Amino acid sequence: MAASKSSANDNDITRDRLAELLNEDLSREYQAIIAYVVYSQVLSGAQYMDIAAQLEIHAKQELDHALILSRQIDYLGKMPAVTPKPVRTSPKPEDMLRYDLENENETIRNYRVRIQQCETLGEYAMAEQIRQILVQEQDHQIDLATALGEEVPDVSGGPHRRTARKHR
Ligand SMILES: [Fe+2]
Ligand SMILES: [Fe+2]
Repeated sequence: MAASKSSANDNDITRDRLAELLNEDLSREYQAIIAYVVYSQVLSGAQYMDIAAQLEIHAKQELDHALILSRQIDYLGKMPAVTPKPVRTSPKPEDMLRYDLENENETIRNYRVRIQQCETLGEYAMAEQIRQILVQEQDHQIDLATALGEEVPDVSGGPHRRTARKHR
């Protein structure tokens, strides 16, 4: 099983490697479910009421994404992961929204690459499923950036760690 680090251009993508990467995506979806379940309930204050309601919707959509990914991983003959990526917490509402936005940015970068990898392998239906997930992730990103009073970050640079910055 290839253990090489994820790179933006997995030209030598195999079905096994794709399943590994989808399992990382699944762990990010679990992380998102947990974060949205908790943040949606602890965000308090009149100015956060709208976004708290949106986060509840996000939580349910992230569960749908996890189910779709699990089905694809099983289809590829692999066992779906059971471990979420770590979830950060903070007593400050703005911190929680920023963590969510950073995670969505990372998720979007990964799905953009994953769609290309699915197509490289001729898995067009899988690519389409991930495209539909990506549409919702971009909506989540917009909701969070709007709640933070920021422009939507440009994440076109491929999957790598980058701190979200204010673009003003
Ligand atoms: Fe998701
Ligand atoms: Fe999301």
